[in-house]
Amino acid sequence: MNKLTLSAREIWFQCSHCARESYCGQEYEEMNDPEVLCPFCGALMKLGAVRLDLLNAPPRPAARQARTAQATKVAPRPPVPTKDRGGIKDFRAFLRDYEEQFPDDVFHVDKELRAEFECSAVAKKFDERGEYPLIIFHRVVNRNGRVSRFRASVNVVGDRQKMAFALNSDIDHVGEEWARRVQGGKRPPVLVPSKQAPCKENIVLGNTVDLWEFPVLRIHEMDPGHYISAGLLTCYDPEKRAVNCAYHRGFVVGPREIRCYLSPGTHNAWNYRAHEELGEEMKVAFWIGHHPAVTMGAHTHMGYPSDHYEAAGAVLGEPLRVTASETLGDDFLVPADAEVVIEGIMRPGHRAPEGPFGEYPRYYGPQIMSPVMEVTAVTHRNDAIWDTHMVGMVHDYGGMQAEHVIYDVVRRAVPQVQRVYLPRSGNGRFHVYLQIKKTHDGQPRAAIMATLAAFEWVKHVVVVDNDIDVYSDAQVLWAIATRSQWDRDLIVVPGCLGSQLDPSATRSAESTKAGIDATMPASPQRYPMRVNVPADVMKRINLEDILPVEQLARRSVGRYSCLPSATDD
Ligand SMILES: Cc1cc2nc3c(=O)[nH]c(=O)nc-3n(C[C@H](O)[C@H](O)[C@H](O)COP(=O)(O)O)c2cc1C
Repeated sequence: MNKLTLSAREIWFQCSHCARESYCGQEYEEMNDPEVLCPFCGALMKLGAVRLDLLNAPPRPAARQARTAQATKVAPRPPVPTKDRGGIKDFRAFLRDYEEQFPDDVFHVDKELRAEFECSAVAKKFDERGEYPLIIFHRVVNRNGRVSRFRASVNVVGDRQKMAFALNSDIDHVGEEWARRVQGGKRPPVLVPSKQAPCKENIVLGNTVDLWEFPVLRIHEMDPGHYISAGLLTCYDPEKRAVNCAYHRGFVVGPREIRCYLSPGTHNAWNYRAHEELGEEMKVAFWIGHHPAVTMGAHTHMGYPSDHYEAAGAVLGEPLRVTASETLGDDFLVPADAEVVIEGIMRPGHRAPEGPFGEYPRYYGPQIMSPVMEVTAVTHRNDAIWDTHMVGMVHDYGGMQAEHVIYDVVRRAVPQVQRVYLPRSGNGRFHVYLQIKKTHDGQPRAAIMATLAAFEWVKHVVVVDNDIDVYSDAQVLWAIATRSQWDRDLIVVPGCLGSQLDPSATRSAESTKAGIDATMPASPQRYPMRVNVPADVMKRINLEDILPVEQLARRSVGRYSCLPSATDD
């Protein structure tokens, strides 16, 4: 049985006095010519005279539905205004503009902190509070034991607000905006002469390179050392020469050696394998620190091979400025406005132990043999800022990358899809919440199937109605609790390819996927109404007018927890 054959448990009626609708229980069916009481105006009337014929009734007028949902309706988020000051959109411009707009969401840490664990402890304290402020560390003791000449930043795209700001969008539509910009047309990059490229303000070659001079962070206790985690690893495929960019973690083993984790399904891994088959070394560059519109665009998941610099230009809204590499040839291009560019080569068959590493599911991914990048040059801006993603802590970035792809795929099957959200509770990967404006009981299943096929690491899909706030785990769980029966509404698909980093999957990443239809039956069927206090009264009553303001401000309602926090004894 599915929701198509569900018969309503309630008997609906429309008051003959005030015309508002309500319902009584099925036991009225057993009674002889029963009377019902209108809960709104108090009128008594014969049920037989006012009963609604649901299956033949016209769909409920939109205004009535809206009134039912009013008490919990999500307030529309105001767009985040950005200033377009003109000039080059780079990392610094973003940091400056964001801080100007949201000064309380940026912290500057002047105290001397070690790159080993201490900076990540600061970020972790916020993570435990569910907060992801942008933090700039000004005095970081690097792996060489010296205060680095460079600043370190974390959480630059730690939450939706920052990404929305980068794309001049709002937190509801930033995923859509990302997709719209990519589809709107790729923009070929423009070449900037080396002398005019800010990333060439400092050029360090060969044996004089010392990556440990940068504030490269060691994040989690079992990470074997200091890692690059916000570097876009860039290379060209040997056949079409399309430039590919993606975030890959890099274990900075020595001043000039980085071991890079390339999971087998990624295009950089394919490129490396293709070079290995040809017996050739692969030229690679990590670039770190750029305007998030550039990093988001360059990191767009696309068909293979695709030009990621063109996608960066599309998302940025103007061509990406690129310049020739120092040591990889004039046809190997790097972003001219990046804070730091690291150039090098990966030789075929040269792999070495890398990891374990605190990964996005918030477990340590195992140690594996990873390709070794031999560094040939580093170029950087004056006073470069070294950026780090707090992988292994919660952030919205990973989910956001998938959101717009899933939105597009689902929209083809179910145009009624309203919102897609990959919540932090699923590490922005494993759970997908879909909000739809349902018109047919078959739509949730179609949406579930489309979503499960969109990304290998998506595990669980929950489809909810458009009165549920998909950004709230609590509301989605409430919809599951009150709108689903799992013999009818649960789809389970065993034996799928899942995430290699899901500790509950098999060694070969075999995983079971599932979807829950947590929607109400489609109109004209009815469902019990959500409780609400009349909206006009809610608007009129302000706690501050009625209760002592100081007492209200003093109250800190703690969250219940049965576990000690990491800092408790
Ligand atoms: C912060 C961050 C770090 C990542 N680290 C890695 C990594 O170390 N190895 C990896 O294979 N994928 C990593 N990923 C995922 C890839 O970047 C992502 O799957 C990307 O789309 C792959 O690129 P492709 O579309 O060119 O295949 C990371 C993603 C993020 C957001």
